[in-house]
Amino acid sequence: MCGIFGIVTNKEQQLGPVLVSAAHSLTYRGYDSVGCATLHEDGVIDLRKDVGKVASVAERLGFDTMIGKRGIVQLRWATFGAPSQVNAQPHLDSDGDMVGAHNGNVVNNVELMAQFTAEGMTVRSTNDGESCVHAVERYVNQGYGMLEAIRRAYHDLEGDYAFIIGRVGEEQLYAFKKGSGLVAGIGEGATYASSDLPSILALTRRVVRIRDGEIVVLRPAGVDLYHVEDGQPIKREPELVTESMDAVAKGGYAHFMLKEIHEQPGVARELLHLYDASADIAPVVGKLRQARHLYLIGCGTSYHACLLGAVYMARLAGRPAIPILAPQFIPQYAPTIGPEDVGLFVSQSGETKDVLNAFHVGQRRGMGSISLVNVIGSTLMNETEHALPLACGYEISVPATKTFMNQALAFLYLALRMGGHNTGVLARLPELLQVTLTTVDAPVRALESRLVQRDDLYCLGYGLTYPIALEGALKLKEVTYAHCEGMLSTEFKHGPLSAVDEGYPVIFATGPEDVGLAVSGINEVAVRGGHTIAIAAADARLQANAHTTITLPDADPLFTPLLATLPLQLLSYYLGVARGYDPDFPRNLSKTLTVD
Ligand code: AGP
Repeated sequence: MCGIFGIVTNKEQQLGPVLVSAAHSLTYRGYDSVGCATLHEDGVIDLRKDVGKVASVAERLGFDTMIGKRGIVQLRWATFGAPSQVNAQPHLDSDGDMVGAHNGNVVNNVELMAQFTAEGMTVRSTNDGESCVHAVERYVNQGYGMLEAIRRAYHDLEGDYAFIIGRVGEEQLYAFKKGSGLVAGIGEGATYASSDLPSILALTRRVVRIRDGEIVVLRPAGVDLYHVEDGQPIKREPELVTESMDAVAKGGYAHFMLKEIHEQPGVARELLHLYDASADIAPVVGKLRQARHLYLIGCGTSYHACLLGAVYMARLAGRPAIPILAPQFIPQYAPTIGPEDVGLFVSQSGETKDVLNAFHVGQRRGMGSISLVNVIGSTLMNETEHALPLACGYEISVPATKTFMNQALAFLYLALRMGGHNTGVLARLPELLQVTLTTVDAPVRALESRLVQRDDLYCLGYGLTYPIALEGALKLKEVTYAHCEGMLSTEFKHGPLSAVDEGYPVIFATGPEDVGLAVSGINEVAVRGGHTIAIAAADARLQANAHTTITLPDADPLFTPLLATLPLQLLSYYLGVARGYDPDFPRNLSKTLTVD
């Protein structure tokens, strides 16, 4: 989840402080390296970059003192190539007269790097941002001007990214995008481009939003837009952004929770690109396969992902795994643990004390360790033998949403690989998530008015949807403060059925394989006056039996848990707001629990 920012001014000046300030505003995305480049009037490019935090790298390398008429800053979160000084961005072209940086992923990076080397260019790193620079260099070497070279390079670079580049002897910077965010700003005697609007709003409120397939040329006095396809200019008036910084940070949504719910198709896509290209997956898969006992360890939402992971691993790889709440791991299993065992620790924050306690106990007994963590540089990520990122960017809302999605997807991905299956089947998932978000919104909102006064409800699932029932119930509890219990659907008749009276709500999250079972459960509740709600792909049996159906798109049954998560997250959000609570910061809760 890298971030980029570029500035073009009308006179040579000290650009360092502006670049450092922009870098700070991009840090929320998570990063491991930072770099600045300034282009001087006399044709010199000053490039300084390294691994580390913005404040310490900036001080050590003297970013504040950097001068120029144009500048680029980039925060890198390692995807292609290890975190290192040489892989940090920005990057130079072969003879050092162009400099550029990107965010996102160029998925044909390895092939491109081989081509560039064969064509005689100087390749210095394994980072895909450098591929973007050489892709432009290739056409500049053939005699094309920058705009034309960029148009051609665009077609060579596969993936989702935004890129910014400058060349000595000119006064412009160029930026273009395919998939990732890019916005330009127009100030007094300066223009800007960034992956993130808030980093520009500190400097100007006149902005131009760049779309896929467009090139923006930043001049000191304004910005010009061109179509990549035909090079034709685009007329687009700048807009004045009047919202507060807080509203802008929420990306137009009323709360971070809603924004993060809607980010899920994008972060899922990002995770798939990352894992497809990652050299870390094969050793992790080997370790998971070989373990004597495999423990999947987490708390709260992350534990629910572990439950789902165990189902995926058993079904897809024939690999039994033991999902266990982190604090229970110690009294239950610690005495039996040995070096042949492996713990897969799952945590958004990587700092949850309960999870770290379990990790340290396992570590003392020689247990192998892998972590699945969102926060880069967290204790868990640093201390486990292998660490896989969740690639969600910063999750601000206390209720975990997008990080659960990528935990679930990471487990599905790993289970497919462990079972020797092709992960190509996952390519459709981001689109299915997007379709689900669009189609379930109205029926969920219709349900909101029926449930808003309810202080008690159940959420049931079976097989693959059992963990989703638990997660849906946790989300509902967390955000609405109502009592909501998640349970295996078949267990409901063994006791909780006694709670059902007129209008009592019971949600059934159901996969295509379990419809018959769900219909039985639905009828047991319905005949006692309960209000039954089915979340499932279209099925005439559910439509005929449940009072309310929330229809998921038709998809591989393996995807049902991920798709069914979305209406439950939305329901929690809408009910929480309707009940007058702040879904981002529920009372009594903290995003990261660093206490016992
Ligand atoms: C989820 O919505 C909660 N905020 C909570 O259950 C959370 O998942 C739990 O505290 C574990 O946190 P972690 O993933 O950072 O370890």
